[in-house]
Amino acid sequence: MNFKLKKCKNLRGKIKIPPDKSITHRALIIGALAKGKTIIKGFSEARDCISTIKVLRNSGVKIEKREDEIIVFGKGFNKIAPPFYTLDCENSGTTIRLMSGVFSSIPRRAILTGDASLRNRPMKRIIEPLTKMGATIKGRGEKGFPPLLIEGKELKPIEYNLKIPSAQVKSSIILAALNTEGKTKVKGKINSRDHTERMLEFFEADIFKRDGFIEIYGKKELKGREIKVPGDFSSASFFIALSVLIENSEILLEETGVNDTRMGFIKILKKMGAKIEIINRKIVSNEPVADILVRGGSKLKGIEINREEIPFVIDELPLLAVIGTQAKGITKVRGAEELRVKESDRIKSMVVGLRNLGANIEETEDGFIVEGKESLKGGVCESFGDHRIAMSLIVAGLISEGKTEVKNTDCIDISFPLFGNYLKKLSCDGTVDI
Ligand code: S3P
Repeated sequence: MNFKLKKCKNLRGKIKIPPDKSITHRALIIGALAKGKTIIKGFSEARDCISTIKVLRNSGVKIEKREDEIIVFGKGFNKIAPPFYTLDCENSGTTIRLMSGVFSSIPRRAILTGDASLRNRPMKRIIEPLTKMGATIKGRGEKGFPPLLIEGKELKPIEYNLKIPSAQVKSSIILAALNTEGKTKVKGKINSRDHTERMLEFFEADIFKRDGFIEIYGKKELKGREIKVPGDFSSASFFIALSVLIENSEILLEETGVNDTRMGFIKILKKMGAKIEIINRKIVSNEPVADILVRGGSKLKGIEINREEIPFVIDELPLLAVIGTQAKGITKVRGAEELRVKESDRIKSMVVGLRNLGANIEETEDGFIVEGKESLKGGVCESFGDHRIAMSLIVAGLISEGKTEVKNTDCIDISFPLFGNYLKKLSCDGTVDI
């Protein structure tokens, strides 16, 4: 599938963005580890979450999908039984890293792999802590690429100093620790999205976030719960960007997740001069939720984004490159080398894509430098099979003067299957053809 686009002159209306992918993964996995029914209301239909469902089902967990809810029939930790065959996590880094934590603590063998992109993503970051806890894990080569062969064990608790601010690594250790007798302590770079910690609190696990570290006391039996999943902020970010960039636009994104550990994008946009309001705040299933009101037409100014801010805006950085093209002066992102090991090398993908559309952008080792200019001219560009690159370039196409074609956009359903329909719902008049 390709997206053919022309300049979008109008973006108006209110929508409810589909449910959060990160939170849905966790609800499925923690629901499977708890005993009894976990009912997930408003779950994400993203392909990545389907990958988690398949891995759990193939490991003996009963999961029923109804119209607007999923029921996980959890039986507790040691009832999850990885099969003798290889489990396919497809494109999903969250599935393979979180499930590796779970499988490490179950005394059986599990084999996990994924598609060509996932087989090239480093797993050493989880192999190291899980091995310290007592699991035996083999991956390919120095970086521990999948397939992963995991020999699960009765684990021992550790104190671990996280070296990368990765929520997937942090969550992998936490999930392993849940089935480990004693106190596991995770310290170091723990400031990344905290959905695992919040959901485990919601399930009344013994997990405590103190100043600078997290403690988990394992082997507490968890009970199934009803969870409501808020709209996915990362999916919302494409519409936020469009609305900020299109004059006279005004959109309201209802009941969207506004967890502080995901709000880097909003903070940065506000500093650049965007008009964004967060209203009707509430807490749902231990997650902050609100409506986001965005108005266009502000004059944006370039900004510098540094290493400490990166974990809170990690998935929105490709989009920030697009916004940088429309901000006065220079926008510089530093300390974001993690982008190189996502579904594609997102630094390279965005630099190549945006240059094709006429942007003035340069790649650096750990980020990019964009110089804002009047407008993009449009052109043909490629998603590199990466959902967030595809959608970010579609946003760029919709603000370009000339015609744009974004090729190879099937990957969008990895996180946002109905993205094109949502553009239409907001009266976006720039999508010529899909
Ligand atoms: C995710 C964590 C982030 C993010 C990914 C989803 C999660 O990855 O980029 O899209 O659900 O935990 P890292 O934690 O590896 O940075």
